Amino acid sequence: MKTVVITGSARGLGFNMARFFREYNYNVVISDLKEENLIKAKEQLEQTKSEGKIVYKTCDVSKLNEIKELMQFTLENFETVDIWINNAGVNQPQKAIWELSENEINTIIDVDLKGAIYGSKVAMEEMSKNHKGAIYNIEGYGSNDAHMLGLNMYGTSKRAVTYLTESLAQEADERNTGVIVGKLSPGIMITDFTTHSLVNDSIELSDKTKKVYNILGDTPETVGKFLVDNMVKNTKNNVKINWLTNGKAFMRFLTAGFNKRDFFGK
Ligand SMILES: NC(=O)c1ccc[n+]([C@@H]2O[C@H](COP(=O)([O-])OP(=O)(O)OC[C@H]3O[C@@H](n4cnc5c(N)ncnc54)[C@H](O)[C@@H]3O)[C@@H](O)[C@H]2O)c1
Repeated sequence: MKTVVITGSARGLGFNMARFFREYNYNVVISDLKEENLIKAKEQLEQTKSEGKIVYKTCDVSKLNEIKELMQFTLENFETVDIWINNAGVNQPQKAIWELSENEINTIIDVDLKGAIYGSKVAMEEMSKNHKGAIYNIEGYGSNDAHMLGLNMYGTSKRAVTYLTESLAQEADERNTGVIVGKLSPGIMITDFTTHSLVNDSIELSDKTKKVYNILGDTPETVGKFLVDNMVKNTKNNVKINWLTNGKAFMRFLTAGFNKRDFFGK
């Protein structure tokens, strides 16, 4: 039986990917900051029938030792790790770069960028010993070089995550590790992330932003299923599993007049 580890998986995309991996009978390791949220998530995930087991462990991805402990915990419960997903992330407050405090800057970089670096390091060290496994990092706003005031520090991290992931894939090949590396590009999902910065501070979305999100956005269930369906069958290194392709975005705008979706209520 295969095993997947997903960081930041008590809610949102991580939680939904865990759910669909259970449908594929994977053993699933969920992890997040707070134990109480993981207990609730585990209970909910157990409602999805699976031959795989589900276990949880708290892990702050901005701390390398906690990621190492998450790996250790996984190997104590299961034989190997087949897929490792660096999913944990925080949004930023809607401020210009220079308006962010030292603490805000550190949190964004530590979680969104260093979390992916640490997770990639620990997963690659372990997987390359066994000459198999897959590591996925999550792209986001900025990965494709877009700019918007209020998202640029987050975008700085995600732009770097894209470079990191492509570099890791190149090094995985060059060192003949047998490990594959890929990017997951989830587009726009309506999650707590969309309406909160730095885990719990709420963000007031403008009507214009809500309109765009209603056209281009999706639930984390829809996106999670797509990403998992593609990860379980992927055997190639350096892939990008991309939900919101340019073609899909174009069609969404073209048909926006018929679109009655309203993620935010009146
Ligand atoms: N929601 C979107 O529109 C969107 C778009 C593109 C990319 N993404 C990315 O997708 C991923 C998941 O986002 P989501 O929308 O599900 O967000 P979410 O806020 O619903 O979930 C993120 C999870 O990460 C956890 N987390 C935060 N800091 C952590 C830390 N230091 N250590 C461990 N866990 C931590 C949170 O507790 C939460 O459970 C993130 O990497 C995000 O950047 C989101």
